[in-house]
Amino acid sequence: MLIGPETFAARRARFLERLGGAAAVIPAAPLVTHHADVEYPFRQNSDFWYLTGFDEPDAVALFLPHCPENPFVLFVEPKDPTAEVWNGRRWGCEGAVERFGADLAHPRSELAQRLGDYLKGAEGIAFRVGRHPAVEPLVLQAWAGQLDRAPRSGTAALGLVAPCPLLHALRLRKGPEELERLREAARISAAAHELAREVVRPGLGERQVQAVIEQHFLEQGARGPAYGSIVAGGDNACVLHYTANSAELRDGDLLLIDAGCSLADYYNGDITRTFPVNGRFTGEQRALYELVLAAQEAAVAAVRPGATAEGVHDTAVRVLVEGLLELGLLVGDPGGIIERGAYRHLYMHRTGHWLGLDVHDVGAYRLGEHHVALEPGMVLTVEPGLYVSDRLPVPEGQPVIAERWKGIGIRIEDDVAVTERGHENLTAAALKAPAALER
Ligand code: GLY
Ligand code: MN
Ligand code: MN
Repeated sequence: MLIGPETFAARRARFLERLGGAAAVIPAAPLVTHHADVEYPFRQNSDFWYLTGFDEPDAVALFLPHCPENPFVLFVEPKDPTAEVWNGRRWGCEGAVERFGADLAHPRSELAQRLGDYLKGAEGIAFRVGRHPAVEPLVLQAWAGQLDRAPRSGTAALGLVAPCPLLHALRLRKGPEELERLREAARISAAAHELAREVVRPGLGERQVQAVIEQHFLEQGARGPAYGSIVAGGDNACVLHYTANSAELRDGDLLLIDAGCSLADYYNGDITRTFPVNGRFTGEQRALYELVLAAQEAAVAAVRPGATAEGVHDTAVRVLVEGLLELGLLVGDPGGIIERGAYRHLYMHRTGHWLGLDVHDVGAYRLGEHHVALEPGMVLTVEPGLYVSDRLPVPEGQPVIAERWKGIGIRIEDDVAVTERGHENLTAAALKAPAALER
């Protein structure tokens, strides 16, 4: 079930409470040009979506704790039959109030003229600078006007503050209805991986595999992929953000697929699986696969309240380094290797990120010197990998890599929710045991 209006209202109430005396200005996303006069499909700003559920471009939401009669004001594109014939239905000001719970709504074109009045009496202005070029000058202008008049009016907002820390702290902790949506995104994404593995064979194109995955997303009612699907055969898997998906799958190679869907209400899945194109691992592939799987399973097992994302990463690194030492791909003492980062030519990224309305979701990992402790309701990916190629130099003192290992890129990624007792793996339905990947 989609997130309902009462959940958006409860989020706004929490946000307003935490703002203290500051007024927040949260803009929607604009449309972005793809080429000529064609735009990319619209993607709402997740902060704006989280608080409003309003899915139109160029709107602006005001949160006004100093105006208890009308704390939630929306500026929206007004109804316009001609524009709606070309670009689809708009809710307009009436819809903003009736359907989206705004206390007041105005045409977006009136923002410049009305913003100053609405901000009057706020102790501060919560607005994210540097992100919203169409709205930022209006906010600064309204604040400058207050400062100009302050000697006679007697009040002005004292400063511009970032809304992110408090809004993103709310988004980081998912409620039960959000976890349900993430389970749904995970379910569709995992099923797409299972379908893809069934069709893979030597000679098929990476793009054809992408088509199977994304067809499933669309058939299931998702908006589409949450990010550019990565379908990377053989050595392509060693390019972390490979999205060309233009090669043919080769007998004897592995295939790495990193793909997840984005639901109608923007909750995302993010899964990576790696398996042999012809259904049989070579010795080297299996050795590295089992090592990544051991690291991934140990890291998933480390997810529990009180642990940290840093600790989860450290767990994966420790298992990988010890395994690489056994395989002769590293030499020396594991502690020293980890401290010097002398494994990073083989494992160069972090082990995970928060997951939610953004794939790389918001929320601090660290506050000053302190790593944020995992709490029930937080959701993170766990995605260690190994990428063996010539792209990065081998660190001094580490062995030259034998040819037989090269062109092997492996990542295994699950979406994991922290629970009271430990964790819930949301993407376990995408199989990863070696026996399940062979045929
Ligand atoms: N697919 C993006 C990531 O795994 O972080
Ligand atoms: Mn991924
Ligand atoms: Mn990820």
